[in-house]
Amino acid sequence: MFYLTTAIDYTNGSPHIGHAYEKVLADVIIRYRRLRGDEAFFLTGVDQHGQKVQQTAEKEGVHPATFVKRTTKKFLSLWEKLGVEYDGWAETTDGRHKACVQAILTDLQEKGELYKKTHSGFYSVRQEQFLTDRDRDGSGNFGPEWGEVVELAEENWYFKLSEHTGWLKQYLETTADAVIPSFRKSELLNAVERNSGTDLCISRPKERLRWGIEIPFDTGFVTYVWFDALINYVSFAGYRAAPDAELPDFAGLWTTDERPVHIIGKDILVPAHGIYWLCMLHAMGFPDELMPRLLVHGWWNIRGEKMSKSLGNIIDPAELADKFGVEALRYYLVRDIVTGKDSDFDLDRLVMLYNTELANELGNLCNRALNMSQRFTDGLITRGGIFTDADLELQTSLSEATDAYRVAMDEFDVSKGLEALGRHVVHCNQYAERMKPWELNKDPEKKDRLATVLQHLAESVAHCAVMLSPVLPAAAAKLAAQLNLPHLAETGLPDLHWGLIPEGHTIGKPKPVFPKIIIGEDT
Ligand code: ME8
Ligand code: MG
Repeated sequence: MFYLTTAIDYTNGSPHIGHAYEKVLADVIIRYRRLRGDEAFFLTGVDQHGQKVQQTAEKEGVHPATFVKRTTKKFLSLWEKLGVEYDGWAETTDGRHKACVQAILTDLQEKGELYKKTHSGFYSVRQEQFLTDRDRDGSGNFGPEWGEVVELAEENWYFKLSEHTGWLKQYLETTADAVIPSFRKSELLNAVERNSGTDLCISRPKERLRWGIEIPFDTGFVTYVWFDALINYVSFAGYRAAPDAELPDFAGLWTTDERPVHIIGKDILVPAHGIYWLCMLHAMGFPDELMPRLLVHGWWNIRGEKMSKSLGNIIDPAELADKFGVEALRYYLVRDIVTGKDSDFDLDRLVMLYNTELANELGNLCNRALNMSQRFTDGLITRGGIFTDADLELQTSLSEATDAYRVAMDEFDVSKGLEALGRHVVHCNQYAERMKPWELNKDPEKKDRLATVLQHLAESVAHCAVMLSPVLPAAAAKLAAQLNLPHLAETGLPDLHWGLIPEGHTIGKPKPVFPKIIIGEDT
């Protein structure tokens, strides 16, 4: 089982383009893995507890539960709009999740992994957090960003994180794919060195935060939001579903045949996933073979700047999907960023990439292949009979593109996979220019040659439809319908072979699948 999760999104606001990117990336990867023939499960969801939610709800004068219900709907409807198809939906206010978090807390308490202590220090009222010397500015003061800073003593529960960092260091050093891409692992290892002496505070007194999961053995406290949120990956996989189940009770989804993959953004690798979560799993008794792989993606920026409410540059993905089309948005989100790196979100590039790669190159290929077959052979596809080196080169181009696509997609590099397919599409269009089927059609003696050329083009369209389906499921379905090949929807990568279109098959009516985006005054 290939078990894939994404980060669960904070419900203190609305979904933005960064959220959309992460979920579309996950959706593409899961569809690709099914295309490969793998059994796969995709979990995503929302992070509903914590200080920020409590504050925003207060400001709006509603109960946090009402508030998160409202914001959660925005995420749900966005995923539906964008064709993000998940198998499991994680909400941290869900009873199953709460029970699991509490069971894990109890287990860890019984194992001696938790302790209670009083911490006194400087506390930022605005940020609602204790500050350390590292938060001081150059002149040794706490800067204005912290607001009012007071001295405070508070009792809380702690997790013995420091007892697991030795293991963590060794695990990271010896596990090649613990963090993908590898430059992020170096970042993490540096952070482990710096952090190794501190334990993790995992509670908040209820006077400070009510909106959270209660510590089962000390009910004056709720669980710190990260401790709660990270557990979603196991709680919704069925871990500790039965309160008295024997330990270790690894969930059915969380198997050793392939380690799970967590897709997360670069900001939540250190310390949340890379340190807290891996150490929590280790403390819970998960062996190294069951540690998840962390696939860390970069961020979309706006003109080199971070997206933020204060800069007012947040982009609403639903609006973009309405304006440019869901598939144009899906394509852009995975095409113009290298998995792991940052990129600049640029509408001109969205339009340019769609118009050149989809409307012009791929659209042109599809129109040519299907239209000319309709006009010249009544839609009948046959092998013809006269073959040339150009045909062989086209077949070689297709098999090279297919191999490169597979390698890239296996490495979660969707952009590179799309580039590989794009190279074949360009090759096909050049082939059409050189073979000139419209000229061949004028000469009755060249009917066989014409059939061969059209068959090569149509066959390429069929292969592209299959391989593009993870990114562009709707377009792929339309192409399959126009080719009159409903079985393409069930065709996996292992089934790809030259001859997807049977000899003597009649294709259906062509209709443009990638209409050009025309920028008018209103866009
Ligand atoms: O961090 N570009 O939630 P979140 C790309 N609830 N990705 C971005 C992005 C951007 N501009 N901005 C945010 C949380 N993201 C926690 C996660 S997981 C147990 C709990 C990504 O709503 C971000 O990196 O702030 C993260 O992976 C995801 O969106 C949710 O961010
Ligand atoms: Mg965030």
